[in-house]
Amino acid sequence: MGDSSISIIGAGYVGAVTAACLAELGHNVCCIDVDAEKVDNINAGIPPIHEEGLEELFQKHAGKMLVAATDYTSVADSDVSFICVGTPSAQDGEIDLSVIKTASKSIGISLRNNEKYHVIAVKSTSVIKAASKSIGISLRNSENYHVIAVKSTVVPETTQNVVIPIVEEYSQKRAGIDFGVAVNPEFLREGRAVHDFVNPDRIVIGELDKRSGGVVAQLYEGFDCPLIRTGLKTAEMIKYASNAFLATKISFANDIGNICKELDIDTYEVMHAVGLDHRISPSFLRAGAGFGGSCFPKDMRALIHKAEELGYRPKLLRSVMDVNEGQPKRMIRLLERKLGNLSGRKIAVLGLAFKNDTDDVRESRAIPVIKMLTDKGARVYAYDPAANENMRPIFPNIRYHSSAKDALEDADACLVMTEWDEFKKLGDEFKVMKNRIVIDGRNIIAFREHIDYEGLCW
Ligand code: NAD
Ligand code: UGA
Repeated sequence: MGDSSISIIGAGYVGAVTAACLAELGHNVCCIDVDAEKVDNINAGIPPIHEEGLEELFQKHAGKMLVAATDYTSVADSDVSFICVGTPSAQDGEIDLSVIKTASKSIGISLRNNEKYHVIAVKSTSVIKAASKSIGISLRNSENYHVIAVKSTVVPETTQNVVIPIVEEYSQKRAGIDFGVAVNPEFLREGRAVHDFVNPDRIVIGELDKRSGGVVAQLYEGFDCPLIRTGLKTAEMIKYASNAFLATKISFANDIGNICKELDIDTYEVMHAVGLDHRISPSFLRAGAGFGGSCFPKDMRALIHKAEELGYRPKLLRSVMDVNEGQPKRMIRLLERKLGNLSGRKIAVLGLAFKNDTDDVRESRAIPVIKMLTDKGARVYAYDPAANENMRPIFPNIRYHSSAKDALEDADACLVMTEWDEFKKLGDEFKVMKNRIVIDGRNIIAFREHIDYEGLCW
């Protein structure tokens, strides 16, 4: 199926997974990242992130179908460059496009310096030589229609109004004539990233022209799912609308869950029955501490900001965020109801990652909870199966433990923040606590008989 030359700009979650999966499909892939350590690791077969199945793919393809470099020289001789750099929130929630702009500029320069690339590649390090070789570089003629595919999540109109003008300026070439442009949003979930990339529900390709879309569509030949080809800004909006809908389902489940709690109803029983309606579906109705992660919160903020810039106030989306921000506060209120003043109390926090099966702590719901605990003078004893080290720079002064049992030793109470499978098995471990108070933010604790258990919304 493979045989294209592909550059991946930004080897983070999306870039690393895209690169490894495309290499597995038989394409020659060069990852470009400004982080030299990441690049060295990739070339040594070490994936930059923790994802099931990724290490095997990196070890299989590194140095062969998959190489990495810190410069953009591979771009001009690739068929497609995927932009996979981060698009975080700026202060006011607006999307921060600074890395997208830098990457677009570098792509433009590479497309302009096609000749120069050849020289640099030959004189450069052995890794770059390997990259050049494995990408099958032979300077292509002007018929080559290099396609820039934006995989990063960007607000509607970004590709047309930001990426294209920058690439045109620095390449001195014209979009739609000298190079192609597409938007190919990514829908993978962290923790299931390789699986999701290989088994998508749909593939969306926004295209500047048919030729651009066709080049990208070719890479997905053989995928057994609907392929949607549309315009650039429609593809950008499909990504935001998808994330916004999923976030809305979670806040809806939390709103209902908060009412259930007042009525002493188990909202999981309610949502199980609600989700059986095929028009609703059972997914993303798990009430609890709310959504975190590198995408839902920042994408919601970016969409809200974009809407308001256009003069529209998106009331529903704002409420979704309000409900989400309220959930961690509800956890602390439940804790205070049990313990009173938290000053000097030893609180175990189980789960730091924003969800299970990842070491990613970006916008984890554990962050506002730990912040409130420390602000109130509590002593925090934390444990996560994978994310301790990623949380340490955010909270250097709390205690980190290598097992749940260690964190629970002598604790006045415990808050459960992440839906890790191993927490389902916790039982005897709670016996080492001073008070066996457990506030569960994820409905994950199964053995509840010998503890003072309190669910957040159930
Ligand atoms: P990330 O922060 O994990 O990775 C970004 C990478 O880009 C980093 O390795 C960084 O070193 C590199 N980088 C920074 N500046 C660069 C430059 N000028 N040139 C080349 N590389 C550069 O980000 P991510 O989580 O992979 O997200 C990337 C995009 O994909 C975002 O827009 C995000 O919203 C979207 N997305 C993410 C996910 C996810 O699960 N993480 C899923 C779907 C979509
Ligand atoms: C999410 C989307 O699911 C992906 O489709 C999308 O590609 C990605 O964002 C993105 O754009 O980056 P991800 O953030 O990896 O993926 O994780 P999810 O499984 O969606 O979970 C997000 C958060 O919602 C987690 O904090 C999780 O605990 C929470 N959640 C999820 C709930 O609170 N309840 C649920 O029912 C489901």
